[in-house]
Amino acid sequence: MAQAPQQVPYTTTNSGIPVESDEHSLTVGSDGPILLQDHYLIEKMAQFNRERVPERVVHAKGSGAYGIFEVTNDVSQFTKADLFQPGKRTEMLARFSTVAGEQGSPDTWRDPRGFALKFYTEYGNYDMVGNNTPIFFIRDPQKFQDFIRSQKRRPDNGLRDNNMQWDFWTLSPESAHMVTWLMGDRGIPKTYRNMNGYSSHAYMWVNGGGEKFWVKYHIKTDQGIDFLTQEEADRLAGEEPDVHRRDLFQAIERGDHPSWTVRVQVMPFDDAPDYRFNPFDLTKVWPHGDYPLIEVGRMTLNKNPENYFVHIEQAAFEPSNMVPGIGPSPDKMLLGRLFSYPDTHRYRIGPNYTQLPPNRPHSQVRSYAKDGPMRYEPARTGAPYAPNSYGGPDADTDRFGDIAGWQTAGEMVREATRLHSEDDDFGQAGTMVRQVLDDAARDRLVSNITGHLKNGVSRPVLDRALQYWRNVDKKLGDRIAHNINGG
Ligand code: NDP
Ligand code: HEM
Repeated sequence: MAQAPQQVPYTTTNSGIPVESDEHSLTVGSDGPILLQDHYLIEKMAQFNRERVPERVVHAKGSGAYGIFEVTNDVSQFTKADLFQPGKRTEMLARFSTVAGEQGSPDTWRDPRGFALKFYTEYGNYDMVGNNTPIFFIRDPQKFQDFIRSQKRRPDNGLRDNNMQWDFWTLSPESAHMVTWLMGDRGIPKTYRNMNGYSSHAYMWVNGGGEKFWVKYHIKTDQGIDFLTQEEADRLAGEEPDVHRRDLFQAIERGDHPSWTVRVQVMPFDDAPDYRFNPFDLTKVWPHGDYPLIEVGRMTLNKNPENYFVHIEQAAFEPSNMVPGIGPSPDKMLLGRLFSYPDTHRYRIGPNYTQLPPNRPHSQVRSYAKDGPMRYEPARTGAPYAPNSYGGPDADTDRFGDIAGWQTAGEMVREATRLHSEDDDFGQAGTMVRQVLDDAARDRLVSNITGHLKNGVSRPVLDRALQYWRNVDKKLGDRIAHNINGG
């Protein structure tokens, strides 16, 4: 049918049928009742009611962009992963986020920032789902849900509550290193472009000869680290709550493409059992002096999403997406996360979420999965099972059958990880306070902690908090106690 001549294209229903009016419902007479047969009105109302998918249970507020990752140094002696081979360029997606706030929350609340990367490699998607912190609050996934509930809203009045946060932290002393980090300058980055990313966890790399290594990723901003003071952040939270989203989008739009240099620390496989810190404890770093950074490549974000909902809200990152040459480490937190993410994606977006544009691998998918809600890529037309006699795909165990694993044995227990010679909850936090921060940064740390504690934290939690900071550093704790107690 020829389109009626008019200046602008005509509106259609979702099924492509021209509509009669964008403004008027179908009624019996101009003031009469609306007719049930106005299926266009009903379609609009029903579609609107279903516009939202649930927000992410954590990291709900975020921003993202597409880019490219280029290898700049030969690390093939450590990994055979396709994306890290010399000269390789791989398309990628990044999403940055705050953790505890909801979708509409201000970008400048003090919080860790998510640093999620998806690399569309020749052997499927590789997701590195990190934070802007090299460490985390806890070391066992059993505590994650409790930790997050202490950071979110109270069940009775729906309010966030500093008392609840400090209650959890002080009863979980392994949090001290991360809380020191959070309360310092890096707890509120100036922009997403001015922060580093870290894998935080150790991962395994396997080279072409089957040799294994432990690695941690450090993704350093080429824009330079910069931060907001508490006062600046508080002002922006009111005046420009989307400041980080706007900054990232506008920088890319004007061609000022942000980039990060990707480096790794590499630990020989056999160092792990006797290293002075438990290398798989997520509350610890590997000091640079022990394992220096080795350059790998550069990632540059150069393309804004055409549609925020399609490409960023529906983006689904999952630490279990590891490609040949990369595997997990025994970090219990990481092992817990391997289950959690695909599970939440199936709930939040739907079981066929891997078919959506941001999640679709750029390599060919030859899985036997079929059907399910909203599937539009047809399942295999031949035999939908393996093994089959009709030319269906066959796992190539010669090329891909090696498991990135380690030897383990023991009784089933519920126990803390084994302590290595220098392991404790407060040591590395104290090192940061005494050796990394300068006087001005230490003053801001004291001021930030004092402000947080004065905002609704009461005894006995407050007393425990003062002891917690004395355990990190006696002088620091005494200064905070002086500010709180006076005198
Ligand atoms: P280094 O002196 O080699 O490294 C200290 C690192 O601290 C710097 O490289 C920088 O990390 C980071 N840093 C600087 N200012 C701040 C800040 N205000 N807040 C948080 N981090 C900051 O020492 P070590 O490697 O021996 O580590 C000493 C302490 O430094 C650790 O106990 C830990 O608290 C902290 N740290 C260590 C990291 C590591 O992976 N080794 C990483 C980050 C912090 P970057 O170069 O990544 O920007
Ligand atoms: C998001 C679980 C620890 C980084 C999420 C989501 C869940 C989750 C359920 C929402 C995902 C979505 O809806 O798309 C967990 C569990 C953890 C854990 C169970 C510990 C056991 C961590 C750690 C890091 C991290 C240690 C960083 C090192 C992120 C990031 C996102 C996220 C960056 C947002 C991803 C995105 O941008 O879509 N986490 N998490 N998480 N998590 Fe975790």
